[in-house]
Amino acid sequence: MVQPIFLFDGNNIKDEVKSLPGTYRLSIDNVLKEIESALQLGIQSFMMFPAVVEELKDKTATYSHDVNNFYLKAATTIKLRFPEICLISDVAMDPYNIDGHDGYVENGQIINDITLPILAKMSVAQAQAGFDLLGPSDMMDGRVAYIRKALDEANFQNTGIMSYTAKYASAMYGPFRDALDSAPKAGDKKTYQMNYANAKEALLEAQLDFEEGADFLMVKPALHYLDIIHRLSENFPIPIAAYHVSGECAMLIAASQNGWISYEKAMPEVITSIKRAGANIIITYLAKDYAAWFKERYC
Ligand code: PBG
Repeated sequence: MVQPIFLFDGNNIKDEVKSLPGTYRLSIDNVLKEIESALQLGIQSFMMFPAVVEELKDKTATYSHDVNNFYLKAATTIKLRFPEICLISDVAMDPYNIDGHDGYVENGQIINDITLPILAKMSVAQAQAGFDLLGPSDMMDGRVAYIRKALDEANFQNTGIMSYTAKYASAMYGPFRDALDSAPKAGDKKTYQMNYANAKEALLEAQLDFEEGADFLMVKPALHYLDIIHRLSENFPIPIAAYHVSGECAMLIAASQNGWISYEKAMPEVITSIKRAGANIIITYLAKDYAAWFKERYC
């Protein structure tokens, strides 16, 4: 299980995400405490996302590879303190560019090939900072090969790539965008994220990422895409990760807060369904709850 972390610059920050109760925007001091408590429950992998203030954003996401970037510094601090954990990054332009898009925007269009070298710079900076795995979530074409080459040339052969392979243009990312204030300023992400009516394109995307050197293939969202998880797990000989995204978790939490379903019963059922579909790795905001539930019963 992988626990997502929303990182804020500063100290002593612990703000609950309103649309995702139980998940917090944390500064590094509190991230270290969060990791400590997750480790006690047996969770050893974390995926971290930065919230960047508007003043540091520009057209080309320069701050994403700036030596003073608080996200990169936090990764170094975390890995020094907990060398045993697996720390996963997010590679995309949306936290850093003024357009709120995952790629470079020109005249309202996302320009794939201008984005690739920016993603590569960001990736090398993240590997340098100590991330174990990089998570390109941008859905540009050809980025896995481009990033792999840049990493190898910079001598980071051992830094892996968990590629967001089948990432759908979904309405389920709302609480995440609230947490990081990263919603697109104009338009939507449908020119680079996938159409939810299309299952076969996931196989094509997976084939490309696999050939380009991805170490893990991810399906996102998870719950509404169990068929895609299953297809990839049947067809590709590398681990399949499933991202149980913010909106999917929020739906479960909201219904249970209303007393309409039992969280205690539904949460393990939901997580188990993702596993049953064929996921080897599950990224979820409910990781700690599931681990605690599991530990109580089976450990
Ligand atoms: C963006 C990114 C998103 C998520 C992870 N990386 C949002 C988006 O594509 O707009 C969403 C995760 C979630 O909803 O939990 N690069």
